[in-house]
Amino acid sequence: MTIIDGKKISDDIKLEIANQVKDIVSKGNRPPHLAAILVGHDGGSETYVAHKIRACEQCGFKSTLLRFEEDVTEQELLQAIKSLNDDDSVDGFIVQLPLPKHINEQNIIEAIDYKKDVDGFHPINVGRMSIGLPCFKSATPAGIMMLLERYNIDTKGKKCVVLGRSNIVGKPVATLLMQKGNPGNATVTVCHSYTPDIKEICLQSDIIIAALGSPEFVKADMVKEGAVIIDVGTTRVKDNSRKSGYKLTGDVDFENVSKKCSYITPVPGGVGPMTIVSLMNNTLLAATKAIYK
Ligand code: GUN
Repeated sequence: MTIIDGKKISDDIKLEIANQVKDIVSKGNRPPHLAAILVGHDGGSETYVAHKIRACEQCGFKSTLLRFEEDVTEQELLQAIKSLNDDDSVDGFIVQLPLPKHINEQNIIEAIDYKKDVDGFHPINVGRMSIGLPCFKSATPAGIMMLLERYNIDTKGKKCVVLGRSNIVGKPVATLLMQKGNPGNATVTVCHSYTPDIKEICLQSDIIIAALGSPEFVKADMVKEGAVIIDVGTTRVKDNSRKSGYKLTGDVDFENVSKKCSYITPVPGGVGPMTIVSLMNNTLLAATKAIYK
């Protein structure tokens, strides 16, 4: 059994990006610039955004954080988005989700210029991805594909099950795995809360992508001997023995499942760091106008 080291792969890729940035800057260009909008003070969102800003520093990018209080209006956010859309010094930006209930997330996502949508959430990017055109791919699915590629995990003709149908992980990772390409060419089943026979489907699968946000949902008796397990779950579970008061828990019962599978991603240190590095990669692609002119 091999533990897929997302931390190491992400460090390798950040170094590769940093080298490309050095090259860009040595030719007299400015470094790539990522901006992030953060609303409120949710602990998870604060941590994710802090990691993204730190990754920018490691890659040699400029970063800008725009903070708004929880009671910001949708109009104020739309105005901030317009300013970032119009600002030529910003290559790409993200609005950290989730947003407070009084704000319509879809209105916000669709207000972002798709050419700066380095999260890949805008319908133009989602649509282009679904038909295999160049686009910003959403960060977590793209990160999972990078892990499969770097570990030479064969997906061609494999049975793959995706647990969860969210717009930011389940649906796009299913799209990428079924697409022509390598990794890709898999036969994909997507399971969700109304799927009656999840255990049987998992038992038949060569690859399981768990992205439902249900701690330790995938048990050893659901996993075929030698399967590949990608755990996207990151639920904060109370743990008083830790200074933070919580531990990050995946969707897979790691201790028992790891005894049966061929490859597995740990939580933390598996998919999480790859999500951030995909965002860095998209920002580099935006800055170099590699996808959209
Ligand atoms: N919230 C959880 N994951 C993400 C992400 O990838 N991007 C943004 N903007 N918000 C998130």
